[in-house]
Amino acid sequence: MNKPTVVSGIRPTGYLHLGNYFGAVKNFVKMQYDFNCFYFIADIHSLTTHPTPGNLQAGVKQVLAEYLACGIDPEVATIFIQSDVPEVTELYTILNMNAYLGELERTTSFKDKARQQPDNVNAGLLTYPVLMAADIIIHKAHFVPVGKDQEQNLEMVRKFAKRFNRMYKKNVFPIPRPFTFDGADMLKVPGLDGSGKMGKSEGNAISLFDDPKEIRKKVMRAVTDAGPTEMNAEKPEAIQNLFTLLDIVSKPDTVAHFDGLYNKCEIRYGDLKKQLAEDIISYTSPIREKIVSILEDDAYLAKVAKMGAEKARESASKTLNEVKKVVGFNSLF
Ligand code: TYM
Repeated sequence: MNKPTVVSGIRPTGYLHLGNYFGAVKNFVKMQYDFNCFYFIADIHSLTTHPTPGNLQAGVKQVLAEYLACGIDPEVATIFIQSDVPEVTELYTILNMNAYLGELERTTSFKDKARQQPDNVNAGLLTYPVLMAADIIIHKAHFVPVGKDQEQNLEMVRKFAKRFNRMYKKNVFPIPRPFTFDGADMLKVPGLDGSGKMGKSEGNAISLFDDPKEIRKKVMRAVTDAGPTEMNAEKPEAIQNLFTLLDIVSKPDTVAHFDGLYNKCEIRYGDLKKQLAEDIISYTSPIREKIVSILEDDAYLAKVAKMGAEKARESASKTLNEVKKVVGFNSLF
């Protein structure tokens, strides 16, 4: 029986952080043997923030090495660079004709970006979910493992896929769904600055590439408060965030231990942070060592990218040909 298809990608805009790892890459690794997986580096998407060519290249190389260091096997899953598969941009152009200004403008990620960078509200930002749709449906994906922050984008992708099928009265595309294991909620890894999610641009992230000293420094500086003043009090956001991180990287009895201390108003945040830092380090250190050694092997990285591009293009061109026929291109001659 054919395995269901999985597609997901990451923008090469900086070192991968714990949000990228636990929200996405850890699932990429777990899914690779049971699904037909396509994992890519979204270099076209990253052009919305105008990186220099040098930064873009370094970012792509970094994410490629990080994918491999995290355990994605390029012989099993297809790892590729988005811009190596031009079929994606052709499908993007076609899908753009059925994506409407109003719905694109209402997307939260567009509104957030427009607020954050008012001098650079480019058309690529507006049609960002359309390019995501092309990425995903060009391989006829069934599942998309992503973190909670991509939920709305994925909703748009589903809408565009359904709209295409409806418009041309053909079930060309399966309707992709977000994927988590065991029906878990989509993950939102918090940052260390007291509120919101961990993000590359938020300056609140711990990256897989940080060395133990940096990790300890960042965790020790995380926002806390004066501590609970009554038993079993609800945790304020900054404290809950530290517990959420602890939940992700530490053993259940460690979490229970600090939870108990919090509920008895005996918690010392310094101790919690020390433990959290060490548990993060034991997760990231082996990955970091692998990243360093893979980054030295340009020939291997080039081989992986080439092999992935070939496999991804084969799959993408099959769908694109079908789409072109359905749309009415190629039909006269
Ligand atoms: P990007 O590069 O911002 O993030 C990559 C992946 O990491 C997840 N993630 C998080 N998960 C949990 N908690 C966090 N704090 C956190 N921060 C990031 C994201 O949800 C994502 O899964 N638009 C996408 C890239 C993309 C894509 C696609 C993804 C382009 N085309 C097609 C899936 C399918 C993005 O900017 O992700």
